Amino acid sequence: MLAANQVLPSSASVTPDGHLSIGGCDAVALADEFGTPLVVYDEQHLRQTARDFVQAYAAVGLDAEVVYASKAYFGLGVLRLLQQEGLSVDVASGGELHAALAAGFAPGRIYLHGNNKSPHEITEALEAGVGTVVIDGFDEIAVIERAAAARGRRQRVLVRVTPGIDPATHAAIATGQVDSKFGFSLAGDAQRGVAAIRASAHLELVGLHAHLGSQLFDLSVFAPTAEVLAEFAREVGADDIGVVDLGGGLGVAYTRDHEPPSIATFAQAQADALRSAFTARGLRVPRLLCEPGRSMVGRSGVTLYRVGGIKPIPGVRTYASVDGGMSDLLRPMLYGAVYEPVLANRASADPDRTYRVVGKHCESGDILVAEAHLPELAVGDVVCLPATGAYGVAMASNYNGQPRPAVVFVADGRARLVTRRETYADILGRDLA
Ligand code: LLP
Repeated sequence: MLAANQVLPSSASVTPDGHLSIGGCDAVALADEFGTPLVVYDEQHLRQTARDFVQAYAAVGLDAEVVYASKAYFGLGVLRLLQQEGLSVDVASGGELHAALAAGFAPGRIYLHGNNKSPHEITEALEAGVGTVVIDGFDEIAVIERAAAARGRRQRVLVRVTPGIDPATHAAIATGQVDSKFGFSLAGDAQRGVAAIRASAHLELVGLHAHLGSQLFDLSVFAPTAEVLAEFAREVGADDIGVVDLGGGLGVAYTRDHEPPSIATFAQAQADALRSAFTARGLRVPRLLCEPGRSMVGRSGVTLYRVGGIKPIPGVRTYASVDGGMSDLLRPMLYGAVYEPVLANRASADPDRTYRVVGKHCESGDILVAEAHLPELAVGDVVCLPATGAYGVAMASNYNGQPRPAVVFVADGRARLVTRRETYADILGRDLA
């Protein structure tokens, strides 16, 4: 029996010899074959999540589109799979744009984001024929207009606004409040921005965008957001507001006591909010766009680490050091994120000990799990951190010269390496001196 079922990928089970199994693959065998730290994605879970999103938004009674926020993880394996499932993609930089194109997304299905898109990134995007640019601030209007004019194009754009709604989440990932670097302020330059775009022969305003924040569990934020957006549309004239993109935000369970809303409930809450706010003002109900990142890829990924050292400090605590840390999973250090590990080589054993699971980096703050409940550990054990599929390797670094982890896909008892582990040569490869 596996206690952590609701945070692990859906295929997780325990083998007869007590090992964690994912996608029909023994996690200990994966660690032996591919080395650790190792990021493992359950391909079927990932595919099913994409389908759940598509189905949920198809069922809300509005025209809708699911746009994967590739910042959560932009590895080509994941991007290709999501492209095959018919999703669109949100890219927040030239690098993510490059990945989306390499993964085969039709340029028309790409949404370009960013609060400081460089002129070079804008040129790359327009050159590639990106479908929609989400305009984040006044200063980029002229740059996008010039790039579109130079190509004789009329570029579809959304205007990103901050609706002044403060969601209940960590301050570093809340974006809907007025005091934000993102988007036009409705209290400030949003009207002027819309007017400038409408005045341009090379820009075509198609709608509004508002991303409130990430790891949201409370759906009551969407009704006031839709009200604010509909009111703004009424004020500026809603003829060309055919799209409202409500961004990402759906939370995932990192621990057993997290209970995020289902994808269907989340989708319905957004759609209901939009429908009621726009119809109340006699306005046409816009197309609904969503940009899930974390909830698309978070739960299908886990990270496997090998325990290399155990240090009991009598009367204080016991440290268990693993072979990764803040270089492959920065969330605990940045946001105080809590994870619940599973011992992959004795997955059914009683978690009757408490350890501080730490990484191998030269910092005392390199703490992956401050209070981990695990069976008694030994050197060589394989520890699995569930729900690391989003904002894990996407935020990885080479701190302390640590190569970034390999990534495998597992399905039907087979494992496929989709990203090889970084080598020392990769790390030094850019240095010219
Ligand atoms: N759309 C926009 C414009 C965004 O800024 C974001 C996330 C998303 C969509 C996707 O949101 P999601 O569905 O993943 O909540 N590194 C942080 C999360 C940063 C989110 C930034 N923007 C973390 O690990 O918690």
